[in-house]
Amino acid sequence: MPRKILVAVAWPYVNGEPHLGHIAGMNVPADIFARFHRIIGNDVVMVSGSDMHGTPTVLKAIDEGVTPEEIAGRYHEIWKTSLEEMNFSYDLYTHTHTDRHREIVQDLFTTIKEKGYLVEATQSMPFSETEQRFLSDRFVVGTCPHCGYDSARGDQCDNCGRTLDAVDLIDIRSRRDGSTPVFKDTTHQFFTLGAFQEQLQEWVMGKDDWRLNVRNQTLGMLREGLHDRAMTRDIEWGVPVPLEGYESKRIYVWFEAVTGYLSATRVWAEQQGTPDAWKKWWVEPDGETYYFQGKDNVPFHTIIWPALLLAYGGLNLPTDVVANEYLNLGGVDFSKSRGHAVWLPDFLTRYEPDPLRYYLSSIMPETSDSEFTWEGFVAANNNELVATFGNFVHRVLTITTRNFDNAVPEPGDLDEIDNGALAACDRALDEVAAAIEARRFRDGLRAAMRLAQHGNRYVDSKQPWKVVKDDKGAAGTTLWIGLNIISTLRTLFYPYLPTSAGKIHSMLFTESDTLADGWTRRDIVPGSPIEEPKPLFRKLDDSVVEEENRRLTGE
Ligand code: MF3
Ligand code: ZN
Repeated sequence: MPRKILVAVAWPYVNGEPHLGHIAGMNVPADIFARFHRIIGNDVVMVSGSDMHGTPTVLKAIDEGVTPEEIAGRYHEIWKTSLEEMNFSYDLYTHTHTDRHREIVQDLFTTIKEKGYLVEATQSMPFSETEQRFLSDRFVVGTCPHCGYDSARGDQCDNCGRTLDAVDLIDIRSRRDGSTPVFKDTTHQFFTLGAFQEQLQEWVMGKDDWRLNVRNQTLGMLREGLHDRAMTRDIEWGVPVPLEGYESKRIYVWFEAVTGYLSATRVWAEQQGTPDAWKKWWVEPDGETYYFQGKDNVPFHTIIWPALLLAYGGLNLPTDVVANEYLNLGGVDFSKSRGHAVWLPDFLTRYEPDPLRYYLSSIMPETSDSEFTWEGFVAANNNELVATFGNFVHRVLTITTRNFDNAVPEPGDLDEIDNGALAACDRALDEVAAAIEARRFRDGLRAAMRLAQHGNRYVDSKQPWKVVKDDKGAAGTTLWIGLNIISTLRTLFYPYLPTSAGKIHSMLFTESDTLADGWTRRDIVPGSPIEEPKPLFRKLDDSVVEEENRRLTGE
């Protein structure tokens, strides 16, 4: 029976372009996981979309003097295009400003309200006298009462990750004009988070396969105790509150954005013409749901969203919340690079997606922050992809096509080294599978790369380019083994480098595709045609490092 795997990718705020930190944190691991589960035969649906509402979009819109809708629409298109160019295999990438999303969010809100888990209360909120508006969430900054970070926001501290209320902030000021707000009472709907304390505690305690950072951050917040949180805001941009008297208020962006996972799965199912199919992942008890995101999103996915799911009832809690730490920008003087980033749309005008997917997977900030450097990118591309992986594929295919009439040679008897190489293929399939299954994507990539290294050593020791001159049969055996290794590399790298896997496939085989072949060592049939090899990867000149660093610092 195939497993049912929901790959739920965090919904980016569309108040700016995607940069490499975003995609290293969530999209790259999510796509590796989704592609892996598809190729091993599981029933996968991967959904996300743009998080259009809330203060991030409003702030940007005010800065530019346009409507939030215009900002959200503009960056949604940019994000969508870049995600497609990266070959992230979303079944649906939508956004939160749709009728269907609004209906599903309002249903969740109404049901939770009816069950008594949303209660009205009065809250003291910062109010700007200069702008005559309530300042919620990102409209204010101040010092975090827990960790002392001086740029904590109205609903979360980005340094310690804790969720906050604006009243907690020390030295609170308006993010817009620096003025000190006054506090005014306002009425909101509060989610009785505390009611789920014990259930959540028990649930998280049982999650011993979660990453330590995720589990510890969550258990820490549970230890400090959960309290009621406002799920409505005094803001115009967002999903209307389905309650009388709340006409000028909107649902809190985090309430409705996390609901996007559910609404997007339902919309996908409706678009497929099987409107009930979403239940496979959300309602059937063996549905598995994996959430991919950056570490600042953790409390919303391990506490607030699970509590909302429990309050609503009958929906599956996350199987795992796979959060990455941060990818920082390195290699240039930090003060000069402040505010700079490597923007994905710009990156893709000069470089291919697969080398980026490779490098970001190899430095993925799984357990601690890591650094992107242009030096690292060029080195990974040139030394690993070109010199190790690409070179192995190229030499085996070149020697084969030149000496065996563009066809797979017939293998003779296999010796210990030949059998060792085939065993290495099978071992790599097991190792990469185990690593990806355990959400250890760097380890998986290393195990895949070890097979390419093994392939190079194997061919070096067998020297088929020499042997072919006086023992064509023996060279044929070596090349047949080499083709087995290439075919296995195609499978192993399919989750990581889908375009390159596709190129290898079309050089080796005339029918089917890597996905349909599944996670096995496909038979290499003697006599079948082999294509003249085209290089898989392009060597980058060392001058790229200096050139790109200059671009970054604007010098
Ligand atoms: N928009 C949020 C961010 O960029 C993430 C939202 S994830 C979701 O941090 F699940 F809530 F959608
Ligand atoms: Zn803090």
